[in-house]
Amino acid sequence: MRKPVIAGNWKMHKLIGESVDTAVELRDLVSNAGHSEVVIAPVFTALRSVADRLEGSNVRVAAQDCSTKAEHTARTGEVCADMLKDAGATYVIIGHSERRQFNGETDETVNAKVKAALKHGLVCIVCVGEDLSQRESGDAQKVVATQVSGGLAGLTLTDMERIIIAYEPVWAIGTGRTATPEQAQEMHGFIRRAIASSHSKECADSVRILYGGSVKPDNIADLMDREDIDGALVGGASLEAGSFASIVNYR
Ligand code: PGA
Repeated sequence: MRKPVIAGNWKMHKLIGESVDTAVELRDLVSNAGHSEVVIAPVFTALRSVADRLEGSNVRVAAQDCSTKAEHTARTGEVCADMLKDAGATYVIIGHSERRQFNGETDETVNAKVKAALKHGLVCIVCVGEDLSQRESGDAQKVVATQVSGGLAGLTLTDMERIIIAYEPVWAIGTGRTATPEQAQEMHGFIRRAIASSHSKECADSVRILYGGSVKPDNIADLMDREDIDGALVGGASLEAGSFASIVNYR
């Protein structure tokens, strides 16, 4: 009943031409992937060109971030949600660990960005995940619970229909060290129970929870086998259309 989502996060890679080439190649490789929502997140500057080439296909476009401000205002260098929509994005990634780490984003920032994005009807992929020292000290669930409750604070049940959660343990991102399907399932189940108590059982049953962190063509099937894993947020392995398509078409 939860439609899987396989999303590719291109991070700060690819110029416009390369982005379009990869998107077009991917579009043709996943044209039969009706079992899953397929999303790619190019850099801001490539959004419009990529979205134009994907029109009419089953691949959707995400932005990698948005402003906390929903209205046009004086925020040099920022891009707000309706501008992303205007550029062809229908999803936005919010609170990725790299933004938390390198751009000082907090749960409050994430919450403000989510609210701004929802105001303009974007689907939010909200990222959470503990780092290695937090996992080793046994605090992973506590950290993730705080990120989930802080990031989603004040959201109504209707808002939650446009929320996708991505659990991305920081120690697994770009390291080649994937969480085991058991570790991922354990945290996904934990997140779903947290949503059941903060929102409702029905909401928890319908929210999609993606796993991210060194997802590759050869480990996606094991991850997707788990009850509470509803898809993946893929970094490195999404940069090449062939490998990302193998992840999408894992079945
Ligand atoms: P990775 O990145 O797949 O390269 O580990 C995942 C992410 O950062 O979303």
